[in-house]
Amino acid sequence: MSNADAVKNLFNEWAREGKDIDMEDGHKHAVREALREVSVPQEASILDVGCGNGYVVRALAKRLPDASVMGIDISDEMIFQARDLTHDDVFNAGFFEGSIFDENLNEDRFDLIFGMESIYYISPVKDAIKRLASLLNPGGQLLLVVDLYQENEASHGWAEKYGVEMELLSAQDYVDAMAEAGLEDPFQRYITYPEGSTSEEWKVTKGSLMTSAFKPFSAADEEGESGDEDSSDDTGTNEGSSDDDGELKLPENPLDIFN
Ligand SMILES: C[S@@+](CC[C@H](N)C(=O)[O-])C[C@H]1O[C@@H](n2cnc3c(N)ncnc32)[C@H](O)[C@@H]1O
Repeated sequence: MSNADAVKNLFNEWAREGKDIDMEDGHKHAVREALREVSVPQEASILDVGCGNGYVVRALAKRLPDASVMGIDISDEMIFQARDLTHDDVFNAGFFEGSIFDENLNEDRFDLIFGMESIYYISPVKDAIKRLASLLNPGGQLLLVVDLYQENEASHGWAEKYGVEMELLSAQDYVDAMAEAGLEDPFQRYITYPEGSTSEEWKVTKGSLMTSAFKPFSAADEEGESGDEDSSDDTGTNEGSSDDDGELKLPENPLDIFN
């Protein structure tokens, strides 16, 4: 069985057992903190990679009614849960069962690609990050949060425990992978949890590792996109960046999606 199939089986089982809700509860703090770092235009196009039961997609879609938010997950049962939990009042959210390498995504471009605890299942992570970078609009942001990383020793046994491959990278590896994918202005931080809020000690002492970087605006020229003034709609998620008119796009900040 391929690792992708093993991962799909694992998360299908978790979806059946209701562990998607446990993940949602366990990850929400880090997601909220990570998304505080984000600025997106109101009409942003957003992708959540490995969206699980879709809680981030729903929260972003409600927070940004003019945006279009999509969740992708390899587990059909997670996607079933995500659709089931998404009611008709959330009209700007959608879910897609599959892989980030699926050709159906080739024509899509996003202003923000987010992934909570999903990227290290997609090996090699370097290629996955390159693929995600190729799906960003110029000025778009990639934001990945992981709990399994080299500096977090508590996470080293997880792959064996769950019987699937998980690529164990260091904090620097994530920065390097984003640079290799042509992204710039990387930033990184550890998101720790308040003492007493969790029984998992590493969450308090080490925390979740967040890494982010941006697609350069110059990528539009390299990709043969128009550099004239009509292209300004495609730009501007990067705080302080300007489009060809020199007009600053006003960021929506902070993006506290669960409040
Ligand atoms: C640890 S869970 C995190 C789910 C969700 N992001 C959360 O915070 O609760 C990892 C998710 O990534 C998904 N996943 C793993 N490999 C994937 C791949 N190659 N493509 C898309 N999704 C994938 C899994 O099915 C699972 O739902």
